Amino acid sequence: MPLFIFPLIGRFHPLIVHLPIGFILFALILMYYPRKDKNLLLPTVQFALLLSTLMSFFACITGIILYNQEGYAFDTVRNHLILGILTALTCLSLFLLVKKHQTLSDPKIHVGSAILFLCLTFTGHLGGNLTHGETYLTEVLPEGIQETFGWKIEEQFEPLSLDGEAWEEALFYEDVVQPILNQNCHSCHNEKNSKGDLILTSKESLLEGGKNGEVIFHKTPMESELLERMLLPLDHEDHMPPKEKRQPVEAEVELIKAWLLTGASFEETLGQSGISVDLVSSFFAKNETSIYPEVQLEPLKEDVLKKLKGQGFFIEKLSVTSPLLKVSTINFPEADNQDLESLEPILAYITILDLSLSNVTDDVIPLVGKMENLTILKLNETKIEGKSFEMLEENTRLIQLHLTKSMVSGDNLEKLNSHPSLQKVFAFETPLAKEINVEKLKELSFKVELGNFELPSLPTDQVKY
Ligand code: HEC
Repeated sequence: MPLFIFPLIGRFHPLIVHLPIGFILFALILMYYPRKDKNLLLPTVQFALLLSTLMSFFACITGIILYNQEGYAFDTVRNHLILGILTALTCLSLFLLVKKHQTLSDPKIHVGSAILFLCLTFTGHLGGNLTHGETYLTEVLPEGIQETFGWKIEEQFEPLSLDGEAWEEALFYEDVVQPILNQNCHSCHNEKNSKGDLILTSKESLLEGGKNGEVIFHKTPMESELLERMLLPLDHEDHMPPKEKRQPVEAEVELIKAWLLTGASFEETLGQSGISVDLVSSFFAKNETSIYPEVQLEPLKEDVLKKLKGQGFFIEKLSVTSPLLKVSTINFPEADNQDLESLEPILAYITILDLSLSNVTDDVIPLVGKMENLTILKLNETKIEGKSFEMLEENTRLIQLHLTKSMVSGDNLEKLNSHPSLQKVFAFETPLAKEINVEKLKELSFKVELGNFELPSLPTDQVKY
């Protein structure tokens, strides 16, 4: 027999199952069709039950072939398979009973036909779940009903959202690409439901690809199946996600594109990938200003600001209506502790202070401690070690502390453990990030983002193409 015969027979299973379904229902209808002479239809019922039995076994055999050929996990088909065989056996028993007793009114026959009906219903239902997914029937019901019965098993994901002040520290894959895939692809490409044998829930599954192979082409990223499918016209049958489903917004597709173009790295941050802020700005959390204090302060005199700007500080208002300020040394890299002292008249106004890349040292921290409304402090790529970080406890509104590529150590960071408001510290590429005692960091009262550790790369880590 040619080899393709088995897979072919297997694939006819979903069609063939309708034969026993039809015959069994027909037999049951004949058995309970109201009429005067109960036994008039006996020969017909007997024949229908014989056909039902034969077709049930035929369906079982094709089902088992399908299971063997298509590599279903036994766990997923077990109940359907057991009930299928039970249906065939019940059918056979009922046929033999009718044949033996030559009547349709025997109690045993009533019990048998009830069992047969139940077996048939449940087998069919489980089979349907296998081909259409478990939520096929329930997902069209109103949400309220689905929730009441606990049927809504599809996971809900938060839409992609980035922090406008810390977007560069977000990991491209983990914080951007995966959330986009979760939102748009998860329902059909997850561990339970992997359409096209493709799972899009982790780095490993993404690299593994689908039934037609890899979906990320590192050599020709723009042709990656992952992207190509999303770029196809909506009407194209291969378009992803399928037309009737929620579609990603253009900016999401652009981000997937940018990720592939910049090397599809699973470790890089958005900053390291070098993408422009325009690609992500539409995902900045909208209520961002709400993290800043609402305070009554006299508006500053223009000449105060003018003087400071003249000195080299970049200063802007947080918003048109707020007197609060964002101060940065972005254009003033030579700024040192001494220069910072000239900020004295506006200390209470400073809400965001960015001293990244400047010459400040730990001695500037006492001054920073006086900024009562400081909410975000950036000390990236400075010589700050954190020696006097306990002074930052005075900043009772401080929420974010950026220390990437600074010299801060774990011991010094611990000084902030009882900080009243601090929520997040970014400390990529610091001595701290290299410390082994990561467990200890987890016990701190705020979250510490360390990016990815640079573990020595193993030959097995390298994906070959
Ligand atoms: C409503 C279900 C559904 C959603 C949502 C969905 N897909 Fe699919 N996907 C399928 C089906 C069904 C197939 C297999 C048939 C085919 O190849 O077109 C498939 C196949 C694929 C394949 C080809 C895999 C292979 O190797 O053959 C890729 C790539 C893919 N999807 C990407 C995506 C991406 C990316 C998203 C989200 C942006 C997504 N899909 C969302 C149903 C879906």
